[in-house]
Amino acid sequence: MTILLEANLTLFFGRFHPLLVHLPIGFIILAGIFEMISWKKKVDLQLAIAYALLAGAIFGMMAIVLGLMLASEGGYNESALNAHKWTGIATTVLSLAAYLLKKNLHKAAWMQKAYQSTLLLALITLTVAGHYGGSLTHGSTYLLEHAPGPVRQLAGLKPARERITVMDSALVYDDVIHYMFEAKCNVCHNPDKQKGALLLTEPAHIMKGGDSGPVIVPGDASQSELFLRVTLNPDHDDFMPAEGRTPLTKEETALLEWWIEKGAPFDKKVVELSREERINGYLREVGIGEKKPFLASLAIASVAREVQDEIVAEGFKLKTIATNSPWLEASYSSYNPDKLSEQKLSTLTNAKENITWLTLSRIPLKDDWLSHIGRFTNLTKLWLNQTAITDEGIKHLVQLKNLEYLNLYGTKLTDEAITDIRQLSGLKKLYIWQTDITEEGVAQIKESLPEVEVVYQYPSL
Ligand code: HEC
Repeated sequence: MTILLEANLTLFFGRFHPLLVHLPIGFIILAGIFEMISWKKKVDLQLAIAYALLAGAIFGMMAIVLGLMLASEGGYNESALNAHKWTGIATTVLSLAAYLLKKNLHKAAWMQKAYQSTLLLALITLTVAGHYGGSLTHGSTYLLEHAPGPVRQLAGLKPARERITVMDSALVYDDVIHYMFEAKCNVCHNPDKQKGALLLTEPAHIMKGGDSGPVIVPGDASQSELFLRVTLNPDHDDFMPAEGRTPLTKEETALLEWWIEKGAPFDKKVVELSREERINGYLREVGIGEKKPFLASLAIASVAREVQDEIVAEGFKLKTIATNSPWLEASYSSYNPDKLSEQKLSTLTNAKENITWLTLSRIPLKDDWLSHIGRFTNLTKLWLNQTAITDEGIKHLVQLKNLEYLNLYGTKLTDEAITDIRQLSGLKKLYIWQTDITEEGVAQIKESLPEVEVVYQYPSL
């Protein structure tokens, strides 16, 4: 008995509303479909239609009662709730009216017209009620959450932001904390369903708090209602997420604590907040990690033996960059550098997918030969030091977006080459000492490629 008294029966039954509501929906739509079939195929479904409408009305009434119970729980967007409530009630009334008209069609001629309009109207209100019901359950943006960009734009929604998962550039709020709220909290704390009057979708609302005032005290997790709620015993009434929803993992909880302790910033990058190694581990656990090196992110087949033999016969050396790796390092035999020709270089392009390191140092290369090299798009390291190339040659390399290491020391390059070098967006290390590139040119390179390390002087000892 005490168990029954303790339980909130209104809420208990109310929660069955979303389940039961599908019955009237099904019956009313069924009536509409039968009506179409009997009109098209001239079969007599009148009795079935009448009973479907009656069933729709009866289950509709039950859904209304349960719905009102559920609404008493509060925390719903009021205008969406009202729209849902009244269109739901209208649907039920219209369904009942349609049933009564159907039963009495033979009595008066006007009833046929009235019946048709009533059924049509019931179907319309049903659609509207269903739409608002969906918004109440999932939030009004639920339907278009995964819609393509242009569709979202048409609907007036912000373009979806792609989550950044690379530690160096991920934002602590957008990519970690917000991401976690979206997954675990926002079914209940969104603009359409503000449980506890708390909205966890926008920074301003998060800081404003809910019924009991602010829920985050920047710099002090132990004073922050939001953090306390997720760390309670899961059996506790106040535990969040409520209703037995999937709780935060221990890593997520620790990250939340870390973020609040660091002042709960909304615009900082992960790397801008000091953190122990432990936190890096937790970040990895929630999907924020170091960038995979380019080569590891590609699956590629090895080059056929015959192709390799052909290349070696031309005087190149080939070896894999690691045991069992499909990736190759190629270089031209340094014994007779003068023998390299454009034709030989074009043989090398037969393995252009696999060659990722290429050494052509100290070879009298011609500028236009580099047009072949420009097609080695998986190249990550390229040595062209002490060759005869000039600014003209560099133009052929601008497509090498994966190039991380480029050695151009001891060449005739000038600041004319800067525009092209600036396009090598993957570059991390550039050697240009003993060239005519000026310090000003170096500054320009760094402006476009802030992460690149430029070696342009003899390393000082
Ligand atoms: C299934 C629905 C549901 C989910 C999911 C949920 N909450 Fe709640 N939340 C509620 C309800 C209902 C209340 C109001 C009753 C209460 O205060 O316990 C509430 C209240 C709160 C409050 C107190 C607000 C105030 O000012 O009183 C906080 C803080 C909170 N939730 C945080 C969270 C966090 C963080 C998550 C995600 C980890 C979460 N909630 C997930 C339903 C939910």
